[in-house]
Amino acid sequence: MFSDLSNFSRGVDTAFAVIIGIGLIFLIGITGTMIYFIFKYNKKRHPKPEDVKDNTKLEITWTVIPTILVMVMFWFGYKGYEPTRKVPKDAIEIKATGRMWSWSFDYPNGKYSDTILVVPVNKPVKLNLYSPDVLHSLYIPAFRIKEDVVPGRDNWMWFKANEIGSYDILCAEYCGKNHSYMLGTVKVVSEEDYNTWVAEVKPSGADAEHPGLTIIKRNGCVGCHTIDGSITIGPSFKGLYGHSVEVETDGTKRTVIADDEYLLKSIYDPNADVVVGFNKGQMISYKDMLSEDDIKEVIEFIKSLDEE
Ligand code: CUA
Repeated sequence: MFSDLSNFSRGVDTAFAVIIGIGLIFLIGITGTMIYFIFKYNKKRHPKPEDVKDNTKLEITWTVIPTILVMVMFWFGYKGYEPTRKVPKDAIEIKATGRMWSWSFDYPNGKYSDTILVVPVNKPVKLNLYSPDVLHSLYIPAFRIKEDVVPGRDNWMWFKANEIGSYDILCAEYCGKNHSYMLGTVKVVSEEDYNTWVAEVKPSGADAEHPGLTIIKRNGCVGCHTIDGSITIGPSFKGLYGHSVEVETDGTKRTVIADDEYLLKSIYDPNADVVVGFNKGQMISYKDMLSEDDIKEVIEFIKSLDEE
């Protein structure tokens, strides 16, 4: 049960063990007393019920002892919690974005990482948590840390990983259909490996990724819209541009052509024309996140999918 994978593991595990221990003592004690009383005060031995009068000593005892016990639990809990709110000044700051339904990480030098959070071992890391849509919660069970990712609030968390290895990241706040698939990985590496990895820049020129693809990856679009024609939460981007689409607008079905104007509207006002066969309310407006220039790149990319 005890782990030492992060600087907080010990504190949290100790608090957990103390609470479980006190709980066990009560479980055994109360159950034992109940069984003992069944024999001691059964009808044969005690044919006449008795009225028990006040017992001040007993009442003081059962007030004072539990008060001490809950204070003990509070003390261990507080000692485990306190360091999680005291972040060292030299911590590496990484922006962690949780969106429906993926995690991504932005490093101070502009490096971007999808799903995988790479950190150096034995160095404090501060995660600045950001959500563009709904509540999420970044949870790293191995490190015993969890913090809500709240739209419009600057929540943060920090940790120091003690051992090289890979650990799971989960979303611990129900955030919609694919909540349970909102997974990630913390990769703890040596400082050298970290420096090499973080300095690695994306290839430019002929090998560069289509800028439109970069935009849809960074905004989590691919979590719901595939680029290979398969169907998940929303329509695929492949075979879309220039084709006719049956949509439902205010309860009426109509057919439209998926042109620039339609795609722009679908991104800014996704619930106005919902493609028949898909659910309304699954997507939020990306008006604050994507400029019209971004959307031009995205549309270019969607067009290019059908040119191969
Ligand atoms: Cu994000 Cu659950």
